[in-house]
Amino acid sequence: MLNTSKIRADFNILSSRNGSAPVYLDSACMSLKPNQVIEAMNDYYFNYPACAGRSSHKLGDKVTKKVKEARQIIAKFINARNEDEIIFTRNTTEGINLLANSLGLQKGDIVLISDKEHNSNLIPWLQLRDKIGITVKIIPSNEDGSFNLDNLSKLITGAKLVSVVHTSNLDGVTNPAKKIIEIAHKNNILVFLDAAQSIPHKKIDVQDLDVDFLAFSGHKMLGPTGTGVFYGKSELLEKLSPFLVGGDTVEFSTYENYKLLPVPEKFEAGLQDYAGIIGLGEAAKYLSQFNFKDIAEHELRLNTYITGELKKILQIKIIGPEDPKERSGIINFYIDGTDMHKFAVMLDEMADISIRSGQHCVHSWFNSKKIYNSARVSLYLYNTMEEAEAFIANLNKIIKIL
Ligand code: ALA
Repeated sequence: MLNTSKIRADFNILSSRNGSAPVYLDSACMSLKPNQVIEAMNDYYFNYPACAGRSSHKLGDKVTKKVKEARQIIAKFINARNEDEIIFTRNTTEGINLLANSLGLQKGDIVLISDKEHNSNLIPWLQLRDKIGITVKIIPSNEDGSFNLDNLSKLITGAKLVSVVHTSNLDGVTNPAKKIIEIAHKNNILVFLDAAQSIPHKKIDVQDLDVDFLAFSGHKMLGPTGTGVFYGKSELLEKLSPFLVGGDTVEFSTYENYKLLPVPEKFEAGLQDYAGIIGLGEAAKYLSQFNFKDIAEHELRLNTYITGELKKILQIKIIGPEDPKERSGIINFYIDGTDMHKFAVMLDEMADISIRSGQHCVHSWFNSKKIYNSARVSLYLYNTMEEAEAFIANLNKIIKIL
């Protein structure tokens, strides 16, 4: 069981305001950051704010060592075979763009995505469709939002890549990644997983999943903003041709020619966000002290309470499966014909409760269902039952007012 009081003491924003901390229920957008992460970043800026991998002085050597350590921590965190399978990026979106622009897809190649993808796993493929003529096919989900493996099997023949979300930011459903990968691999098709929403809440083991490529962001897993990771199997990364090139990606260059460095360097062009990378390593270290089962159980307890209370409000519809067990820490809801922004703004103004409203970067899904928008609660390890109760009490007040 999680000790939330102890956890909250690590988060300045939750512990420093003498009982008036915000009720933060928007971790699917951005998680809070423990002081350990901020301190690790400050340590870089205060004490060794130099370049990694280039300068032969003590400060530069320290940055190089710290970035290497962060790469090793992340490799261990997702059980990669080696640290060179870890490429630092700005976020999941950049990882997907890296893949889309480096795979060497050609006119007519088929990419399969689900009907619940974030814009970041839709637009890069649609752009390639428009630029070079790839075909993007959509795998329809079941009515309740769960993944339909039969639909995948029906569409898979001849595809080059299956690119799907692991845990959806729309409804919290976790797709059966292992089965998806098994089906794809039987057909010699590569699989990319968007792990932005799964990595903060679940143990990810890339070897056990046998996934070919995977990306995630630091900012949803207690890490700094503007940090992310793109993972690929070594033998596949070697074949990819990087889409960002320049400083630190080449072994040598002449006016006519150049030779790329091996992975991961060939993908990390220019000076990097060293403080961010070091902070991301610290976030993975911080998360590693917990058992992911405890985090899931904690989120389920709060989700079960909130779901039960929302069901009592007849107008409210929850997106995704009814059972909170199927929705991780996410409760996304709407009322037909109602702009749910109003709820988010009033919760914030009345009670300092932060939730997200809108279409959550899954416009395609909202447009296809003709739902205007929704309000989403997303939970994490620092949330408490008191916060869940405060959310429900204030939501009920708003329903009465409106
Ligand atoms: N994908 C992020 C969210 O769901 C931004 O809020």
